[in-house]
Parts: sequence; C-alpha cells; structure tokens
Amino acid sequence: MSDYFHYLDNQLHAEQVPLADIAAQFGTPCYVYSRAALTDGFRQFSNALQGREHLICYAVKANSNLAVLNVFARLGAGFDIVSGGELQRVRAAGGDAGKVVFSGVGKSIAEMRLALEAGILCFNVESAAELERLNEVAGSMGKVAPISLRVNPDVDAKTHPYISTGLKQNKFGVAYGEAVALYRKAQALPHLRITGVDCHIGSQLTETSPFIAAVEKVLVLVDMLAREGIRLEHIDLGGGLGIRYNDETPPAIADYVAALLGALGGRGEKLVLEPGRVLVGNAGALLTRVEYLKPGEEKNFAIVDAAMNDLMRPALYDAYHKILPVELEPSGGTTSHSTKPASGQVAGYPQPSPACGGGSEREIQSLIYEVVGPICETGDFIGHARELAIAPQSLLAVLSAGAYGMSMSSNYNTRPRAAEVMVDGGTAHLVRERETVAQLYAGEKPVL
Ligand code: LLP
Repeated sequence: MSDYFHYLDNQLHAEQVPLADIAAQFGTPCYVYSRAALTDGFRQFSNALQGREHLICYAVKANSNLAVLNVFARLGAGFDIVSGGELQRVRAAGGDAGKVVFSGVGKSIAEMRLALEAGILCFNVESAAELERLNEVAGSMGKVAPISLRVNPDVDAKTHPYISTGLKQNKFGVAYGEAVALYRKAQALPHLRITGVDCHIGSQLTETSPFIAAVEKVLVLVDMLAREGIRLEHIDLGGGLGIRYNDETPPAIADYVAALLGALGGRGEKLVLEPGRVLVGNAGALLTRVEYLKPGEEKNFAIVDAAMNDLMRPALYDAYHKILPVELEPSGGTTSHSTKPASGQVAGYPQPSPACGGGSEREIQSLIYEVVGPICETGDFIGHARELAIAPQSLLAVLSAGAYGMSMSSNYNTRPRAAEVMVDGGTAHLVRERETVAQLYAGEKPVL
C-alpha cells in the first residue's frame, strides 16, 4: 500500500479522505487518485535527475485523465504519446506540445500532421517505412520533423511476454543491426532532422540489469553514429520501471535513475525518460462494492460491482492487485469486521445497508473468495483466492490500479465507465463523471 492510501480509525483513506465517503458521494465503481502521490513520484524523478539536463515525459497511456495530465504539466513534465488522441488530451490538460515525444509503430498521416502542426519535440520512429512517410508528410507541410529512431536492443526485460518490447521477435523499434544504416537514410531525407535515439524494452521491470544492458547497447550505437558525423541531442531511455503490486521488490526511483546515470557515464546528451506506471500505479485505487456473496462447494464468490471492463489487467495478464476492505473491525483486525455503518460518512448520502441482522454489531466470518465482476465471462475476475471478511454492500479497494486501469477500460456488456475522483489533501474532486448509458449509444442508429 502506498503511503497515500492508509487506514485511519479502521477506515481506509486516500490522503485525508475516507474512501467510504467517496463511495457514498460518487458511487461505485470509482477510481480514486491521490494528487500527493502523483506529485511525490514526479519529484523523486526530478530530484534524482538534478544537475543533469533532462526531460521526464510521462507516458500518457498509463492514465490519461486530464486532471492527472494537468498535475504533471504543472510540475514541468513532458509527455510520451502514442496517438493523436493522446496529443489532444495533453494539450487540453495544459501540457506543452514542445515537450512531447511521439512513440508507436503505426502513426497515421493524420496523426503526423497533427503532431507537426503542434510542434512536438520528437517523433520516435519505429521503421524505415515510417521514416519515408514522415519525410513526405513534413515536406508537404513545408516543415522539418525532428526524429529519433527507436532501436530494439534485443535484451530480455524479464517481464510478462505481453509487455516485453525489446526482444528481436517484438514488433517494436528498428533492429539494432540496421540502426546505423537507417540513421544514414534519415540524414539524407530533406524534411527530417535527427535529434536523438530512443529505446524502451518493456514494462513492469523489477530489476535494473536489463535497463543497463539496453543503455550499454544504445551508447555503442551513439558512438558509431558520432563517428559518422551524426551527433545526437538527446538519449531517450523509455519507461518501464515496475511497482510493487504484491511482493515484488523493484528498485526505488532514485536507485533506478542513479543506475542509468552511472551507465551513461559523463555523457552530455540530454536524458529523456518515459515513465508511466511508476508515476501513477500506486497513486490510484479502484473502489468497488460487494453486490452478492455466493458460497459454493468448491469456491466462494464475492460478486462486486467492478468488472474486467473497469480493470482489465487481471483478465488480460493474470495480474495481481491487492484487495482491501475499506472498513476494518474496530479492534483493528483484518480478518473480521462489523456490519455497523462507518462513522464519519457524509451525512445525507446513502449509507451501505448492513448485510443482515439489522445493523447489529455482528462479526463477519473471514472466508476465501474469488472476487469477480458481473460480466458474462469466466475471465471476469479481479482477484483469486482472497481472504476477506465481507458482507453484501461491503466496500473493497483494489489497490495499485492507477496505471493501465481506467485507460484500458471498455464498455463491454454496455457498462458505463467508472467515475474518477482525485483527492487533494482533505478534498475529493470528481475528475471524470460516471458515463451514462445514453452516452454509450449516442452515435448509433438503426438502419431504416
Ligand atoms: N514508452 C513506451 C514507448 C511504451 O510503450 C510504454 C508502455 C511506456 C513508455 C511506459 O511504460 P511504463 O513506465 O508504464 O512501464 N497495459 C500493460 C502495460 C503496457 C505498457 C505499454 N508500453 C499493463 O497493464 O501492465
């Protein structure tokens, strides 16, 4: 649990706000973010990079809510985008297009135009065909596109295969052995300007060694380019630093940055990083309410109102997210709690109704549950085999849900997407309204 989600008087809080109050005010399922946690993560990067020319480009895909982007923009962040849509979000949130790097293997002509018009810092180009297309698009606009080549250093990130990107067999980047030839080609194209080199080897890395192996390969390339007279202004080492979901022990931000700086030695190029998950993952939780308990012969199910459409990571990667009760038993134990409604809830809002027994202080037995959503798929689970003392209407917090949670959500089963709330000290701000069903089918019409 991050310091920003903590129990106080047996109530799970985000900063100073009880999560039960947020559920009462904004309903469930609901994503809750801590502004202080976002700020803290960003500052850890900037402190570790002090004295070195750098740009921290937050990877927008991890969480693209405008309020989240705005927090980082105010702190001076740049942004790593992978679509024209993300660029529009960055601008709508007050971000500086001049600090944007554009990654991704499939940039369309329209997206290139949008980014050239906006004057982004750099296109991270991922293929020879993309170099040619970008040269043409920039030429047709009378512009010169700043580029890096994203090189694939062929190192094993030792992470989940779906989020490993730096191996030869992955679709990302240009092959290491072809990079010099492609840089020569880029140099010959009139509407491109070479500004840097880029590499990103994967996500949720919990060791520093693969990053260091990648840096070493990138530096060999930078030296080869220098010998050809191609001098780079910046080196972009991507994102990928992991977080603790359960018992992982990833390096601290400061240690990760120190290791990168050590591997870079005394080189003068500006350092660009693209962290996503590590800045937002543990700054967010998904708040959900138990709808039904369904005991079974082999398994007990806790059916909650959040589902795989809200948080896809468990279904897609078999990812683990801690699930905590929002209220603990007053004695402080975690294995049983009272059905008594929480103190400190916001007056005038609906209170969770007690499980059974009409509000008496009944002990709830702790059981092992499959925590599942209402969607019609066996893969719709939030957590397997979790010991929880819960009753219908109990509130649960699914932790470490700030990264790739809401941003990967969908409307499957015509489920409106969750509300999003940002806590700032003692105040909870609604930063995205819960969708309505009417919004979901607003663009549809029958054939007459
Ligand atoms: N830069 C590039 C070019 C990327 O492709 C990514 C993530 C990042 C930066 C940020 O990586 P991070 O610091 O967040 O690890 N949906 C998956 C993660 C996919 C990551 C894709 N690329 C998940 O939920 O685990």
